[in-house]
Amino acid sequence: MQDNSKTNSAQSKTWSGRFNEPVAELVKRYTASVSFDQRLAEFDIQGSIAHSRMLGAQGIISKEDVLAIETGLEEILQEVRNGEFEWSLDLEDVHLNIEMRLTSKIGDAGKRLHTGRSRNDQVATDIRLWLRATVDSIIDKIRALQTSIVDLAEEHYDTAMPGFTHLQVAQPVTFGHHLLAYFEMLQRDAARFADARKRINRLPLGAAALAGTSYPINREMVAKELGFDGVCENSLDAVSDRDFAIEFTAAAALMMTHLSRLSEELILWSSPRFGFIDIADRFCTGSSIMPQKKNPDVPELVRGKTGRVNGHLVALLTLMKSQPLAYNKDNQEDKEPLFDTADTLLMTLEIYADMLHGIKVDKEAMRVAATEGFATATDLADYLVNKGMPFRDAHEVVARAVRQAALQGCDLAELRLEELQEFSPHISEDVYSVLTLEGSLASRNHIGGTAPNQVKAAIQRARQRLEAD
Ligand code: ARG
Repeated sequence: MQDNSKTNSAQSKTWSGRFNEPVAELVKRYTASVSFDQRLAEFDIQGSIAHSRMLGAQGIISKEDVLAIETGLEEILQEVRNGEFEWSLDLEDVHLNIEMRLTSKIGDAGKRLHTGRSRNDQVATDIRLWLRATVDSIIDKIRALQTSIVDLAEEHYDTAMPGFTHLQVAQPVTFGHHLLAYFEMLQRDAARFADARKRINRLPLGAAALAGTSYPINREMVAKELGFDGVCENSLDAVSDRDFAIEFTAAAALMMTHLSRLSEELILWSSPRFGFIDIADRFCTGSSIMPQKKNPDVPELVRGKTGRVNGHLVALLTLMKSQPLAYNKDNQEDKEPLFDTADTLLMTLEIYADMLHGIKVDKEAMRVAATEGFATATDLADYLVNKGMPFRDAHEVVARAVRQAALQGCDLAELRLEELQEFSPHISEDVYSVLTLEGSLASRNHIGGTAPNQVKAAIQRARQRLEAD
């Protein structure tokens, strides 16, 4: 980054008439945002081109100026893309850097670009354009992850595993069914991003510093040109609120929270105590001291990075809290949390989709675990209800049978018929069909249930829903 007197004089031209002394060096570094907001360059240029075309169409600047501005900005865009653009700290932010460069290229026409505009509505526009593009790639990546979830679920639509409550074996479920729970969470996450996009996609430009502008501007034209759904209705609101960024970060925090739950499960399932799955080596690391270790680093980091994104949400909420209308420099602090949220999310989604494809499932280990912990106890109670016993009584009968099996150190299905009949005369030979994993799974045969044929149908619907979006 350049920090020399040449650009210093450029900055002083921006507002120096009002000041008696130059900005202190430390203050310059403290207030500058160019080190991070240069990332908005592409969108800043897009916004400026649309603004200048509108100024031209409205007769506020000449057609020649519009042409010079557009050509100059296109060249600057190439310089930025090629990494040739010289960013200067003295020029504070992305907006002034680009504007000064334009003026150095095309002279007075460059100085006319900022007519009827302020950096306040300019920056709000840039962020919205950037965030809209970011949301679109996030939604694409959520879809890709959902596809890997459905692929894995399809392979395991009838693989029995223990379902847990309180991390204790509760009832058998299929692995496919368990995975589809995450499909649903991600489906809502994608919908949240799509919904936030509607509020992101409004044009602030035209609000100028806060009160609008006295030039005969055409905001609808700019909105259309930039692909916005419409304009922000109130100029004060347009430049000052960042609720759209907060909403985005809230949706991101929630999505990371979902992925951190899945990560926690992958960590548990891959630990030798469970031994349900094996995560491909490329997502794990070893220990520098314990040769036997294979650590699930990626899911652990997803869990950890969730804290980081949650932190960004709190940072943005706190940033906004108590700010009086309209624009305040506080808002410059919105960018780093926002950028980091997007980067973290995009990388997490990408890595996750690949990691799921590399998971190997030990069906036998899952099966054995599902037969431990009396997972079919509820099935026995339901069986007794079907034979006419009230549910509460059946619950009590089964509790006693479980106690007996626990004493004998066996599963319910391993108790002999005569032993079971001691708990209730309603029990006959057909009881074993409900005490098996297959019987238990097959009986939960309704939409949203874990019966393998229901899971198959749910997978089909999930694929259709992905296609429909
Ligand atoms: N860099 C500033 C930001 O990110 C741009 C707007 C500056 N406006 C101002 N009045 N100082 O918010």
